[in-house]
Amino acid sequence: MMDGKFDNDIQAVVDADRAHVWHHLSQHKPYETSDPRIIVEGRGMRVWDQKGKEHIDGVSGGVWTVNVGYGRESIADAVRDALVKMCYFAGASGTVPGAIFADRLLAKMPGLSRVYYCNSGSEANEKAFKMIRQIAHKRYGGKKHKILYRDRDYHGTTIGALSAGGQDERNAQYGPFAPGFVRVPHCLEYRAAEQGAPGTHYGEWAADQIEQVILREGPDTVGGLCLEPVTAGGGVIVPPDGYWPRVQDICRKYDILLHIDEVVCGLGRTGTWFGYQHYGVQPDMVSMAKGLASGYAAIACLATTEAVFDMFKDDASDPLNHFRDISTFGGCTAGPAAALENMRIIEDEDLLGNTTRMGDYMLDQLHALADRHAVIGQARGKGLFLGAELVKDRESREPMDEARVQAVVRDCMAQGVIIGATNRSLPGKNNTLCFSPALIATKDDIDEILTAVDGALTRVFG
Ligand SMILES: Cc1ncc(COP(=O)(O)O)c(C=O)c1O
Repeated sequence: MMDGKFDNDIQAVVDADRAHVWHHLSQHKPYETSDPRIIVEGRGMRVWDQKGKEHIDGVSGGVWTVNVGYGRESIADAVRDALVKMCYFAGASGTVPGAIFADRLLAKMPGLSRVYYCNSGSEANEKAFKMIRQIAHKRYGGKKHKILYRDRDYHGTTIGALSAGGQDERNAQYGPFAPGFVRVPHCLEYRAAEQGAPGTHYGEWAADQIEQVILREGPDTVGGLCLEPVTAGGGVIVPPDGYWPRVQDICRKYDILLHIDEVVCGLGRTGTWFGYQHYGVQPDMVSMAKGLASGYAAIACLATTEAVFDMFKDDASDPLNHFRDISTFGGCTAGPAAALENMRIIEDEDLLGNTTRMGDYMLDQLHALADRHAVIGQARGKGLFLGAELVKDRESREPMDEARVQAVVRDCMAQGVIIGATNRSLPGKNNTLCFSPALIATKDDIDEILTAVDGALTRVFG
């Protein structure tokens, strides 16, 4: 990998990074006087930085991605073999890894039968938005074009995806956004009182708020509803009982396509192949990315039903009638080759089972931590996708200041433990610590992570 002036000189690499790399989500002023962190190596649950310091990674590469852990040679071998044989061809043609992976993937998703390849979660969501818009034009004279999205959900970084963004701080300063996207209320029961919800049947109530928006906008104007199965960066929101079945009924009642964004939950994060599979719903479209190949190659896709697919071939004589979309890197074979091997590992090592067992254990341990630290207002999650919402006061549930939440993250980092926290997403509500270790995590790994959190909470909050 290294060559020339960088040979065996990690400081030269750090200097090049500092001089030239624009890091994501980062204020760069501090790097004028200190070095950025470079992650040099990873194995299993652990990564090492440029100073050789070892860290246990409690967030799978920072953003819920490296589901099967670092250093998997079999994935590297699969990618190498695919690249040497046939690296790329534009997606108007097929590739061998693309066809085989589509077959394997859809076997995990009863009711869905088509895969559209692209290269990021944002882009996969854009595909769904474009399909909904095109269907509106083809079938409904353009009228049924509105797309509903939920407060606190995130669907990506492009202007189109931000138009469906339920995190106002993430959207701030990037408008104006695309028209025709309409927000529905969130379903975080812990904050139900602030929404004016009644004391019982919160799940049904929260779903009914979606119906209220549909009725306000006019059902004949609404073409799609886009939701995360369990909200990630918006605060690890596990949907309340009764929510999803009611959402499905509402979509069917008003002929609205249900698009589930599985970019985070997909490929095992919550203990099932997909998050929606906990709730007995049947989506029309499912987008996925991140854990699809555990970050070993860039791959994303949108899976759809045959009914959606059929709407794009009903009039072969019309040159505008098919889905006129291309994603150049959707034709890379590295992605599906890596994804195939990633899926084999999840199956052969029973990582879904491990995720359920270790997720339950980690949630129990978080509850035990909450018994010792009043600053934890609520611990929640599903599988190895967990959060701890920090509050100033349990009674009032006033959110903890973001700076102090970040101090906990920094303290853990200093101990060699990488955890996450909601950040710059929701004005005044960036107060949830996030945990998403790789699906290979053991009890010892989880204990190590939470022991660090215990110490950090004591130091930051006393
Ligand atoms: C739920 C969800 N959807 C979509 C995205 C966007 O994915 P990408 O960064 O690959 O574009 C993210 C990224 O964090 C996400 O959390």
